Amino acid sequence: MKSISTRIWHLGAGGDQDEQAIREAAAMLREGGTVAFPTETVYGLGADARNTEAVADIFRAKGRPSDNPLIVHVAAISQLEELLEPWSELAGQLMKRFWPGPLTLVLPARAGAVSPLVTAGLDTLGVRMPRHETALRLIAAAGCPVAGPSANRSGRPSPTAAAHVADDLAGAISGIVDDGPAGVGLESTVVELVPGGGDGGREAIRILRPGGVSAQELREVGEVLEDSGWDPGKQAPRSPGMKYRHYAPQGRLTVVAGDAERVTAHIRRELAEASRNGLRTGVLTYEEHKGLFEADLVAVCGSLNDLETAARGLYAALRAFDAQQIESIWAEACPVEGIGAALMNRLLKAASGHIDQV
Ligand code: TXA
Ligand code: MG
Repeated sequence: MKSISTRIWHLGAGGDQDEQAIREAAAMLREGGTVAFPTETVYGLGADARNTEAVADIFRAKGRPSDNPLIVHVAAISQLEELLEPWSELAGQLMKRFWPGPLTLVLPARAGAVSPLVTAGLDTLGVRMPRHETALRLIAAAGCPVAGPSANRSGRPSPTAAAHVADDLAGAISGIVDDGPAGVGLESTVVELVPGGGDGGREAIRILRPGGVSAQELREVGEVLEDSGWDPGKQAPRSPGMKYRHYAPQGRLTVVAGDAERVTAHIRRELAEASRNGLRTGVLTYEEHKGLFEADLVAVCGSLNDLETAARGLYAALRAFDAQQIESIWAEACPVEGIGAALMNRLLKAASGHIDQV
């Protein structure tokens, strides 16, 4: 691909300087550029969702398969009126409860409202309003619906820092708005609504991708159907993106689950054998366990006692294995409560389903 120069704005100076940067980035979006921006989940790669050439540039830069639709980011509910068919009461309640925030709603699209590349030919559109001040200001200033997949090369871990975006996409996109680390660290929860799917013929919620909003939280608003939880093997590939290998480091990753002591013993044995065989080894573990392992890279994603920290650190840890050319990696499973469900889901996807149950 022909290399272009990528403009980088570093925010954080505050006041006028940040305002000026956001104005410039918004102008770039309006003029058909591709601009990476922070959200409360991961960095996204934005383009005007109505501009087919700009959207095509997103797919090209990421190397993303064209049958995988993009979600569209808005800064206000009023922006949705031209994008969607009138939405149901349940959809409205979910927006009210979780927006701005890490929930993507897949809803019936208004024909012709966005480039057909965005929806990959589906008659639905995934929409979300991020809970991130810079993202909201950028979208509002651009004045257009912003299509935005995660700002990584397809198949790589999603970027939780601007440096990750630059590693993957510098020279392939127009700009990067650097506003420090992303929040949750894992992507939004994607749901669709099923008319008549719930008790008493009520509309129900189906989770297509677990994420920053948990099934428990969704249940406070409506019925959640056949919660497939964290297990990617049980998920129907209803969300086109879920069928691709994802988030994966270059080395071979195996998740190890079971009784804590047996997990440690198993990983230690596997590490010893792999290094005898001359492989570069890695472990993905937690603050509490990091002293238990010897490997070429012991990567800590966060604390077992606070899985939110582990969610924030997961993708950076996966990237670190690549940076050090680690060939064989073992990852400790985590409890699948709350954000742990999304964390385990991403770990298993990164492992392409390889799990040692001990
Ligand atoms: O947190 C996030 O959602 C981040 C930030 C940047 O907002 N974005 C993100 O986008 O993760 P992406 O493209 O990496 O993942 C979007 C997922 C994909 O699995 C895609 O297949 C699914 O949402 N999706 C998008 N539109 C859909 C639709 N109309 N029907 C079903 N699934 C859809
Ligand atoms: Mg992605």
